[in-house]
Amino acid sequence: MNNSAFEQLTQRLPAQPARWLVTGCAGFIGSHLIEALLRLDQQVLGLDNFSTGYRRNLDEVQSLVSPVQWQRFRFFEADIRDGESCRQACEGVDYVLHQAALGSVPRSLADPVSTNASNVDGFLNMLVAARDAKVSRFVYAASSSTYGDHPGLPKMEDHIGHPLSPYAVTKLVNELYADVFGRCYGLQSIGLRYFNVFGPRQDPEGAYAAVIPRWVRAMLLGEDVFINGDGETSRDFCFIANVVQANLLAATVVPPEAVNQVYNVAFNDRTSLNQLYELLQDALCALRTDLPPSQPDYRDFRAGDVRHSQADISKARRLLGYEPTHRIEEGIRIAMPWYIARFSGLGGEDRRVG
Ligand SMILES: NC(=O)c1ccc[n+]([C@@H]2O[C@H](COP(=O)([O-])OP(=O)(O)OC[C@H]3O[C@@H](n4cnc5c(N)ncnc54)[C@H](O)[C@@H]3O)[C@@H](O)[C@H]2O)c1
Repeated sequence: MNNSAFEQLTQRLPAQPARWLVTGCAGFIGSHLIEALLRLDQQVLGLDNFSTGYRRNLDEVQSLVSPVQWQRFRFFEADIRDGESCRQACEGVDYVLHQAALGSVPRSLADPVSTNASNVDGFLNMLVAARDAKVSRFVYAASSSTYGDHPGLPKMEDHIGHPLSPYAVTKLVNELYADVFGRCYGLQSIGLRYFNVFGPRQDPEGAYAAVIPRWVRAMLLGEDVFINGDGETSRDFCFIANVVQANLLAATVVPPEAVNQVYNVAFNDRTSLNQLYELLQDALCALRTDLPPSQPDYRDFRAGDVRHSQADISKARRLLGYEPTHRIEEGIRIAMPWYIARFSGLGGEDRRVG
């Protein structure tokens, strides 16, 4: 977060520390949200079941905030598929930042039932609990996958196509439920359609790792880097600091016309996979001169992938005051030492984001 975004937020926060619930707090995005909130001296309850998140992410946040700030954090190991746990978590909470879900399109193609259970049943449990606890605002992680097969570029919130994967269905259903809970019960919600978020603490391991951590890991370990298709597939890569800013703005925005809406959260840029490969190689080689340059291996296009993605972010700019602070190049520069430290015990000094 830059200084002006930080100032805007501190002005919007109530004089007394507010009580926040962050679900999925041991994951990539959730751990950055708790870090930012604790730095703002807020009271934070984090919920996670460690299905794809890690305790080490919480340990890292603890190492980055002061002992007094860390004392304002409570952790609740629980599963959002259990309605009673959601009810307990929401008790006395002002703002919910709901991130817990099973991410990844390929995971959902392999196991749609598990994805649905956490992303739809769990989401509905959280909505009911937030409604019953009368929280002030329910901000949730939506997804650019909701644009599906709509060919328009840049993507605008009102123009969506058909979902291309079970994961995309779950994220679309989240938006429908949140909208209905606004109409039927007056629950204030905001959905944030994230576009390819990246940054430190994004999991580089496993079959369902996102492209940036997966490639950096392979480059560092001297393994093959695979590009799906011809490499001209493009994405609007969004650094984590921009996502944190959008969440805090969404939770605290006042005008009624800004609420019960969905927003694109991205940079409004488009980077092809071939360009991404070059950016990562350059950033890595600048820090690790001992690594030999490598070439990518091209293979088939991946099922369920859209060809191009780029967000129009004018709605978030206009109604939330969102102003992304980090371009892809800067985000990679900040994230790279973290990956180097993760895999080789070197670097890692610049771990603070935003
Ligand atoms: N990373 C991206 O590029 C991206 C893009 C679009 C949307 N999203 C959404 O953002 C959110 C956070 O994603 P992330 O990249 O941080 O993923 P992540 O896997 O690192 O974090 C998700 C966290 O949710 C937890 N979780 C999953 N199911 C749970 C359950 N049933 N009960 C309790 N906790 C559970 C996991 O253990 C994990 O810690 C998700 O909703 C995801 O769908 C992410």
